[in-house]
Amino acid sequence: MERRDFVKLCAASAAATTLPTAADAASLKARLYRRALLVDERQQPIRAESLRVGVNYVFDYPFAATPCFLLHLAGPAAGGIDLRTEAGGAYRWEGGIGPRKAIVAYSAICAHKLTYPTRQVSFIGYRDGPSPVAGPGKVITCCSDRSVYDPAAGARVVAGPAPQPLATILLEHDATRDELAAVGTFGGEMFETFFRKFGFRLQLEMGDRAKSGVQDRAVVRELAHYSSQWARC
Ligand code: FES
Repeated sequence: MERRDFVKLCAASAAATTLPTAADAASLKARLYRRALLVDERQQPIRAESLRVGVNYVFDYPFAATPCFLLHLAGPAAGGIDLRTEAGGAYRWEGGIGPRKAIVAYSAICAHKLTYPTRQVSFIGYRDGPSPVAGPGKVITCCSDRSVYDPAAGARVVAGPAPQPLATILLEHDATRDELAAVGTFGGEMFETFFRKFGFRLQLEMGDRAKSGVQDRAVVRELAHYSSQWARC
Protein backbone atom coordinates (compact mmCIF):
# COMPACT_ATOMS: atom_id res chain seq x y z
CA MET A 1 0.00 0.00 0.00
CA GLU A 2 1.38 3.40 -0.91
CA ARG A 3 2.40 5.55 1.96
CA ARG A 4 0.76 8.90 1.77
CA ASP A 5 1.83 11.81 3.80
CA PHE A 6 -1.38 13.64 4.45
CA VAL A 7 -1.42 17.05 5.97
CA LYS A 8 -2.79 16.74 9.48
CA LEU A 9 -6.14 18.24 10.09
CA CYS A 10 -6.59 19.25 13.68
CA ALA A 11 -10.28 19.84 13.30
CA ALA A 12 -12.92 17.55 11.94
CA SER A 13 -13.06 17.85 8.19
CA ALA A 14 -16.23 18.36 6.28
CA ALA A 15 -16.89 18.34 2.57
CA ALA A 16 -17.50 21.86 1.39
CA THR A 17 -20.64 22.22 -0.63
CA THR A 18 -21.15 25.95 -0.15
CA LEU A 19 -18.96 28.97 0.38
CA PRO A 20 -18.33 29.63 4.08
CA THR A 21 -19.67 32.69 5.85
CA ALA A 22 -18.52 34.58 8.90
CA ALA A 23 -21.10 32.73 10.94
CA ASP A 24 -19.14 29.51 10.40
CA ALA A 25 -16.10 30.86 12.18
CA ALA A 26 -17.16 30.02 15.71
CA SER A 27 -16.68 26.35 14.85
CA LEU A 28 -13.89 26.66 12.34
CA LYS A 29 -13.22 23.48 10.45
CA ALA A 30 -11.02 22.44 7.59
CA ARG A 31 -12.92 22.50 4.31
CA LEU A 32 -12.35 19.84 1.76
CA TYR A 33 -12.80 20.69 -1.89
CA ARG A 34 -12.26 18.56 -4.93
CA ARG A 35 -8.78 17.02 -4.90
CA ALA A 36 -6.56 18.59 -7.57
CA LEU A 37 -3.19 17.13 -8.54
CA LEU A 38 -0.59 19.88 -8.93
CA VAL A 39 0.89 19.76 -12.43
CA ASP A 40 3.22 21.86 -14.53
CA GLU A 41 2.23 23.66 -17.73
CA ARG A 42 2.80 20.42 -19.71
CA GLN A 43 0.29 18.69 -17.42
CA GLN A 44 3.04 16.63 -15.78
CA PRO A 45 2.77 16.13 -12.00
CA ILE A 46 4.90 18.49 -9.98
CA ARG A 47 7.52 16.65 -7.91
CA ALA A 48 7.88 18.13 -4.47
CA GLU A 49 11.66 17.86 -4.63
CA SER A 50 11.70 19.77 -7.92
CA LEU A 51 10.18 22.91 -6.42
CA ARG A 52 12.94 25.46 -6.14
CA VAL A 53 13.46 26.95 -2.71
CA GLY A 54 12.43 30.58 -2.46
CA VAL A 55 10.52 30.70 -5.75
CA ASN A 56 6.98 32.06 -5.66
CA TYR A 57 4.72 29.53 -7.42
CA VAL A 58 1.02 30.12 -8.07
CA PHE A 59 -1.91 27.86 -8.87
CA ASP A 60 -5.66 28.45 -8.96
CA TYR A 61 -7.67 26.63 -6.29
CA PRO A 62 -10.35 25.81 -5.26
CA PHE A 63 -12.01 28.00 -7.90
CA ALA A 64 -10.77 28.88 -11.36
CA ALA A 65 -10.34 32.54 -10.34
CA THR A 66 -8.83 32.16 -6.86
CA PRO A 67 -5.01 32.07 -6.92
CA CYS A 68 -2.86 30.42 -4.25
CA PHE A 69 0.82 30.61 -3.43
CA LEU A 70 2.94 27.46 -3.32
CA LEU A 71 6.32 27.81 -1.61
CA HIS A 72 9.26 25.55 -0.87
CA LEU A 73 10.83 27.13 2.19
CA ALA A 74 14.50 27.02 3.06
CA GLY A 75 13.86 24.87 6.12
CA PRO A 76 11.16 22.79 7.78
CA ALA A 77 8.06 24.71 8.81
CA ALA A 78 7.14 23.43 12.23
CA GLY A 79 3.45 23.25 13.03
CA GLY A 80 1.45 23.56 16.21
CA ILE A 81 0.83 27.26 15.66
CA ASP A 82 -2.47 28.56 16.97
CA LEU A 83 -4.10 31.14 14.74
CA ARG A 84 -7.33 33.08 14.72
CA THR A 85 -9.49 34.56 12.01
CA GLU A 86 -10.93 38.07 12.16
CA ALA A 87 -14.29 36.59 13.07
CA GLY A 88 -12.75 34.78 16.02
CA GLY A 89 -12.42 31.29 14.62
CA ALA A 90 -9.47 29.47 16.17
CA TYR A 91 -7.44 26.88 14.30
CA ARG A 92 -4.09 25.18 14.57
CA TRP A 93 -1.66 25.25 11.66
CA GLU A 94 0.20 21.96 11.44
CA GLY A 95 3.23 22.92 9.41
CA GLY A 96 4.75 22.15 6.04
CA ILE A 97 4.65 18.89 4.13
CA GLY A 98 6.91 17.06 1.71
CA PRO A 99 10.26 15.34 2.22
CA ARG A 100 11.62 18.21 4.30
CA LYS A 101 8.29 19.43 5.69
CA ALA A 102 9.07 22.70 3.97
CA ILE A 103 6.30 22.99 1.38
CA VAL A 104 3.38 25.26 2.20
CA ALA A 105 0.45 26.79 0.32
CA TYR A 106 -1.83 29.71 1.03
CA SER A 107 -4.59 31.64 -0.62
CA ALA A 108 -3.03 34.57 -2.46
CA ILE A 109 -5.98 36.84 -1.64
CA CYS A 110 -4.79 39.43 0.87
CA ALA A 111 -6.81 39.34 4.08
CA HIS A 112 -6.98 43.15 4.19
CA LYS A 113 -8.67 44.44 1.04
CA LEU A 114 -8.38 41.33 -1.10
CA THR A 115 -5.49 42.32 -3.34
CA TYR A 116 -4.63 39.28 -5.44
CA PRO A 117 -2.40 38.36 -8.39
CA THR A 118 -4.13 39.10 -11.68
CA ARG A 119 -2.85 38.24 -15.14
CA GLN A 120 -1.78 41.87 -15.53
CA VAL A 121 -0.07 42.58 -12.23
CA SER A 122 0.55 41.26 -8.73
CA PHE A 123 0.99 43.52 -5.73
CA ILE A 124 1.27 40.55 -3.40
CA GLY A 125 3.98 37.91 -3.38
CA TYR A 126 6.80 36.13 -1.60
CA ARG A 127 9.99 38.05 -0.91
CA ASP A 128 12.96 35.83 -0.27
CA GLY A 129 15.36 38.70 0.26
CA PRO A 130 15.31 41.90 2.31
CA SER A 131 13.33 45.02 1.51
CA PRO A 132 11.92 47.99 3.43
CA VAL A 133 8.56 46.23 3.80
CA ALA A 134 9.80 42.65 4.04
CA GLY A 135 12.50 43.38 6.61
CA PRO A 136 15.04 40.54 6.37
CA GLY A 137 12.80 38.70 3.88
CA LYS A 138 11.26 35.21 3.65
CA VAL A 139 7.79 36.71 4.00
CA ILE A 140 4.76 37.39 1.83
CA THR A 141 4.24 41.10 1.34
CA CYS A 142 1.18 42.92 0.04
CA CYS A 143 2.27 46.23 -1.41
CA SER A 144 -1.24 47.68 -1.43
CA ASP A 145 -1.10 48.63 2.26
CA ARG A 146 2.04 46.80 3.38
CA SER A 147 0.68 43.79 5.17
CA VAL A 148 3.33 41.14 5.82
CA TYR A 149 2.67 37.43 6.39
CA ASP A 150 5.01 34.71 7.63
CA PRO A 151 4.70 31.61 5.40
CA ALA A 152 6.70 29.52 7.88
CA ALA A 153 4.11 30.15 10.57
CA GLY A 154 0.74 29.58 8.92
CA ALA A 155 0.89 32.94 7.11
CA ARG A 156 0.24 34.77 10.35
CA VAL A 157 0.28 38.55 10.11
CA VAL A 158 3.60 40.03 11.24
CA ALA A 159 2.98 43.63 10.11
CA GLY A 160 0.38 45.83 8.49
CA PRO A 161 -3.38 46.12 8.63
CA ALA A 162 -4.42 42.60 7.60
CA PRO A 163 -6.84 41.33 10.26
CA GLN A 164 -6.12 37.62 9.89
CA PRO A 165 -3.68 35.15 8.31
CA LEU A 166 -3.91 34.13 4.69
CA ALA A 167 -6.09 31.05 4.44
CA THR A 168 -4.09 27.83 4.39
CA ILE A 169 -4.43 25.58 1.36
CA LEU A 170 -4.37 21.99 2.54
CA LEU A 171 -1.90 19.88 0.59
CA GLU A 172 -1.42 16.15 0.35
CA HIS A 173 1.99 14.66 -0.45
CA ASP A 174 2.26 11.21 -2.00
CA ALA A 175 5.68 10.15 -0.72
CA THR A 176 5.95 7.22 -3.15
CA ARG A 177 5.44 9.36 -6.23
CA ASP A 178 6.62 12.61 -4.65
CA GLU A 179 3.46 14.26 -6.02
CA LEU A 180 1.40 17.03 -4.49
CA ALA A 181 -2.32 17.65 -4.49
CA ALA A 182 -4.51 20.40 -3.09
CA VAL A 183 -7.45 19.06 -1.13
CA GLY A 184 -9.03 21.92 0.81
CA THR A 185 -8.61 25.05 2.88
CA PHE A 186 -8.17 25.90 6.53
CA GLY A 187 -8.53 29.26 8.22
CA GLY A 188 -10.22 32.42 7.08
CA GLU A 189 -11.49 31.82 3.58
CA MET A 190 -12.48 35.02 1.78
CA PHE A 191 -13.91 33.59 -1.40
CA GLU A 192 -17.46 34.80 -0.90
CA THR A 193 -16.31 38.39 -0.31
CA PHE A 194 -13.83 38.07 -3.17
CA PHE A 195 -16.47 37.05 -5.69
CA ARG A 196 -18.80 39.75 -4.42
CA LYS A 197 -16.13 42.44 -4.81
CA PHE A 198 -14.56 41.34 -8.08
CA GLY A 199 -17.43 39.44 -9.68
CA PHE A 200 -17.99 41.95 -12.46
CA ARG A 201 -14.32 42.09 -13.43
CA LEU A 202 -13.95 38.33 -13.25
CA GLN A 203 -17.03 37.83 -15.37
CA LEU A 204 -15.55 40.09 -18.05
CA GLU A 205 -12.20 38.33 -17.92
CA MET A 206 -13.26 34.71 -17.55
CA GLY A 207 -17.00 34.51 -18.07
CA ASP A 208 -18.93 31.97 -16.03
CA ARG A 209 -15.79 29.91 -15.60
CA ALA A 210 -14.46 32.21 -12.84
CA LYS A 211 -16.49 30.67 -10.06
CA SER A 212 -16.33 27.11 -11.27
CA GLY A 213 -14.44 24.67 -9.10
CA VAL A 214 -11.01 23.48 -10.16
CA GLN A 215 -11.29 19.95 -11.45
CA ASP A 216 -8.74 17.17 -11.14
CA ARG A 217 -5.63 19.21 -11.91
CA ALA A 218 -4.27 22.61 -11.00
CA VAL A 219 -1.47 24.11 -13.09
CA VAL A 220 1.46 25.51 -11.13
CA ARG A 221 3.36 28.49 -12.57
CA GLU A 222 5.94 30.84 -11.25
CA LEU A 223 4.37 34.13 -10.24
CA ALA A 224 6.62 35.85 -12.77
CA HIS A 225 4.78 33.83 -15.46
CA TYR A 226 1.34 34.11 -13.89
CA SER A 227 1.28 37.92 -13.77
CA SER A 228 2.81 40.12 -16.46
CA GLN A 229 4.16 42.49 -13.83
CA TRP A 230 5.09 41.92 -10.22
CA ALA A 231 5.17 44.97 -7.98
CA ARG A 232 7.56 44.15 -5.14
CA CYS A 233 7.97 46.00 -1.90
S1 FES B 1 -4.95 44.79 0.43
FE1 FES B 1 -3.16 43.85 1.14
S2 FES B 1 -2.46 45.13 2.72
FE2 FES B 1 -4.29 46.11 2.05
